[in-house]
Amino acid sequence: MRKHIVAGNWKMNKTLEASKALTQDLLDKVPTDTETHVMVAPTFPNLYPTQELIKDSNIHLAAQNAHFEESGAFTGEVSVEMLESVGVTTVIIGHSERRSIFGETHELLAKKSSKVVQADLQLMFCFGEVLEERKSGNHFDVVKQQLEESVFQLSAEEFKQVVLAYEPVWAIGTGETASPEQAQEMHAFIRSLLKEKYGEETAENTSILYGGSVKPKNAKEIFSQPDVDGGLIGGAALKADDFVSIVTAF
Ligand code: PGA
Repeated sequence: MRKHIVAGNWKMNKTLEASKALTQDLLDKVPTDTETHVMVAPTFPNLYPTQELIKDSNIHLAAQNAHFEESGAFTGEVSVEMLESVGVTTVIIGHSERRSIFGETHELLAKKSSKVVQADLQLMFCFGEVLEERKSGNHFDVVKQQLEESVFQLSAEEFKQVVLAYEPVWAIGTGETASPEQAQEMHAFIRSLLKEKYGEETAENTSILYGGSVKPKNAKEIFSQPDVDGGLIGGAALKADDFVSIVTAF
């Protein structure tokens, strides 16, 4: 059975003190008996302080990005090995903000993806269409291409470490969510691609998260779709009460 996952992407938010305060709030409020796998992705400087707080809890540490080289002259970058050494267990790759603001290409994302799984960490791979592509009816082709040119380069064995996060770009941070039907339709399509590429077992066992303006008020309906296995949460992850009601929405 695939896991239910709710992950908070804190993006470029929270100083050290604010990060610690939010983490403490989550420790107080995330139910210890939840079956949902809970993750938070603070900024790089706040990873280790967060890990120090959550290490004995059921909250897991994710990073928002990584470089594909192990070490060397790559000013400003952070390697997967470094992330692992501070307690990171999952690395988010391919977020639409990395693609659109920082120009990350399919080729680069393929390299990063491969590095994450080779280090034995979980890869959370994000993708999704922009509004124009949805309006012109190309969203299925766009998503297929995003997968084929990057994360589908992994072997079947490597793919066992992958969680997918479908995030329609028009829904990220906009307050506009895909309807539960739109999410289900795309997730079912993604699962059919997984089946074609890696077979039935991988398709059934891969968690596919939805991201894009998930809030306490819409989480239950989105998560009730058969092919939606959780969410990648941005804005609503910055407030413990909101995030916890999303965690408990299953
Ligand atoms: P949002 O962000 O929940 O604020 O729309 C989601 C994301 O970017 O992962």
